[in-house]
Amino acid sequence: MYLVNTKREGGRKVITKPLGQMAVRISSIGLGMNVADSSRTISAEAQVDLVRLAGTLGINFLDTAPNYLSGQSEEIVTAGIKGRRKEFVVATKVPPEATSYARLIQAADSSLARLKSDWIDLYQVHWPNPIVPMNETMGAMDTLVRDGKVRQVGVSNFSMNELREAERCFSAGALASVQVEYNLFDRTVESEMLPYCRERGMTVIAYSPLHRGRLAGSARGRETLKEIAERHACSSAQVALRWIAAQDSVVPIPNTTNPSRLRENAKAIELELSGEELDQIGQCRTDPVPVPTDSIQVADNTGRKVYTTLKEARENPLGFVPSPAQLAEQIRSGEFLKPVRVRHAEHGRGGYELLEGRVRYWAWVIAFGGKQPIPVLIDS
Ligand SMILES: NC(=O)c1ccc[n+]([C@@H]2O[C@H](COP(=O)([O-])OP(=O)(O)OC[C@H]3O[C@@H](n4cnc5c(N)ncnc54)[C@H](OP(=O)(O)O)[C@@H]3O)[C@@H](O)[C@H]2O)c1
Repeated sequence: MYLVNTKREGGRKVITKPLGQMAVRISSIGLGMNVADSSRTISAEAQVDLVRLAGTLGINFLDTAPNYLSGQSEEIVTAGIKGRRKEFVVATKVPPEATSYARLIQAADSSLARLKSDWIDLYQVHWPNPIVPMNETMGAMDTLVRDGKVRQVGVSNFSMNELREAERCFSAGALASVQVEYNLFDRTVESEMLPYCRERGMTVIAYSPLHRGRLAGSARGRETLKEIAERHACSSAQVALRWIAAQDSVVPIPNTTNPSRLRENAKAIELELSGEELDQIGQCRTDPVPVPTDSIQVADNTGRKVYTTLKEARENPLGFVPSPAQLAEQIRSGEFLKPVRVRHAEHGRGGYELLEGRVRYWAWVIAFGGKQPIPVLIDS
């Protein structure tokens, strides 16, 4: 049941999917514009070239945000699509700190100025902000749509409850998309959100589809990808991407700093995997397990700022939105928390190191006083 449309452009196969319920179609594999990992660097010029290359490869869907690439990402998109604006579907985001009515309108105007465009194709709330009422945020989105500044509205990193609340602010079918992490390691979205979105004609934009370059969460998963890739004379990353893109209503947005990998990623959509192969890949899942919160060490080992003590987490000096304490409130009221990601601690010390979920981890500790095991995905 794949919702794809194929046409030929200059001998090249272009495969698209709908974005929400308007007549907009986007390439079944997009391009994510954030280079979050500090070990990879790319100049702004090289990034502009990558956007141009993406266009020639049939990728018309670009996902950016005002805070990506030290605030330069939207301008890079502008330069990369210069003279071809209408051929691209540009998705950008409003940060959670700017979700009040006035600030959201202001943030959209700033993005439009950086994009040198009269419109944003898809404007997404990057993260929910529990202290701003949802109808205020969505009211501002509605104003932008009415003014023609925004064509479609989406959300990102929303829980099921938040998604339902956002939907209630619009007429049926007006919310176009949900952006969430979805890869062969983190498949949280499959249980509830994905079927829900499919039923309502919303597109699921899968971020970190290559599990940030690790492809799968287990050696078995990576081995399966390798075996299938050898059979098809392609790369494991192409097999992983093809699997995500084969999911109905899902559009992955891999990032790369490398032109030959961009070519590889664009071409992945042409890979013909059998139903049996797709099932075999799908079976390599990593399920969450509960572990005591005090068995997890939180250290600044990823180059991202983290709180290393409960006191800091409660005080939130870095101003995370939502703060650990706000998120703890939501957890206590029954909100589902996506599992945090850990790996086994090095040098046989026992326990785990936190890789991802620095706010969620502390929120869980605050919510249950450190007494309840937290669901984790173990990256091995
Ligand atoms: N909404 C949100 O909160 C949110 C959060 C995270 C990400 N995102 C979006 O999702 C996009 C992608 O996510 P991501 O960068 O976190 O993860 P990703 O796309 O899963 O992984 C990127 C990593 O994979 C490597 N890679 C790319 N193509 C490859 C290939 N063909 N073979 C082997 N390795 C390959 C890249 O390295 P090289 O550069 O060396 O190729 C990089 O290390 C972001 O750019 C952003 O637009 C959104």
